[in-house]
Amino acid sequence: MSVTPELAPIAGDFTDKSIVSIKQFDLADVEQVMAEAERMAIMAHTQGRSQLLADKLVANLFYEPSTRTFMSFEAAAKRLGAGTIATQGVEYSSISKGETLEDTIRTVERYASVIDMRHPQVGAAAVAASVARVPIINGGDGNGEHPTQALLDLFTIREEAVDHQPENLTVTMLGDLKNGRTVHSLARLLAMYGTKLNFVAPPQLKMPEDIKYELNGAVQAETGELNEVLGDTDVLYVTRVQKERFEDKEEYEALKDHYVITADIMEQANPTMILMHPLPRVNEIHPDVDKDPRAKYFDQVENGMYVRMALLALVLGRGAQAEKTIWLPEQRRIDALL
Ligand code: NCD
Repeated sequence: MSVTPELAPIAGDFTDKSIVSIKQFDLADVEQVMAEAERMAIMAHTQGRSQLLADKLVANLFYEPSTRTFMSFEAAAKRLGAGTIATQGVEYSSISKGETLEDTIRTVERYASVIDMRHPQVGAAAVAASVARVPIINGGDGNGEHPTQALLDLFTIREEAVDHQPENLTVTMLGDLKNGRTVHSLARLLAMYGTKLNFVAPPQLKMPEDIKYELNGAVQAETGELNEVLGDTDVLYVTRVQKERFEDKEEYEALKDHYVITADIMEQANPTMILMHPLPRVNEIHPDVDKDPRAKYFDQVENGMYVRMALLALVLGRGAQAEKTIWLPEQRRIDALL
């Protein structure tokens, strides 16, 4: 597939670029986000907030339910001193009057310097990016992609997984691999590092063929049975069966509790294995598992804020380079810590 203008490669320069898909990134771009997120984490731990984006407004345009991604972008913007404006839900917006997404974007860009958005249709973020004069950050487009989630998942894997090197790990993705946009983005991202991937799903919810085709042979096993690959898993990434993507509610009911991670399963798993989930969970992970130190899903939540702070700074041209002049006193504190 040719790269369309709205999916411009990052190619080392995030300034004014939209972030729609993991396909826009090369390894150096990903590493830049990771380094920036690390700096944001240190800043948040040492001083809480900065004024890096104090002259900016960030718009959060969310047309699908969200707790974490929405609040994470809000928190990220505010930790960097930016103001935020938001609309959540179609019913309170002009979409319900029949306005096109393009017109909504042309409106919101007059108010804000960057637009974070979530939309139920695949490709909506790319459409928005093609008309917008400000960067669009895709917070999930239907069952398409969720690039900011994949980046925060990678950040968490590097912090928490055994040996911290994605290239040496085996990651098992489990659940609704057909409709789950987080695993579509994360599989693409990990394949860039040469991570080995196992896919565990019932036949109806398998990873789409076109995505598998892109993964450069990273997939080492595909099965319906977790126990076939559990022993060879460093990261178990569990997903929710995506109720809202089912036309046939009976099919959803039949599949929704197909896999449930319990304390028993965790006992059979590798002692160094970590357990991840983008949340919200429904029944896929029993609450008893939460006290297992290998459960990292709430760490993912925190890391999401640092990664989104990094992305906001980068697309607004305030990444590490620009920042040195603005953050000099804090930089000294950071240097002292490292
Ligand atoms: C995910 C999403 O919206 O795709 N949630 C999130 O952003 N953390 C996962 C899901 O809803 O299952």
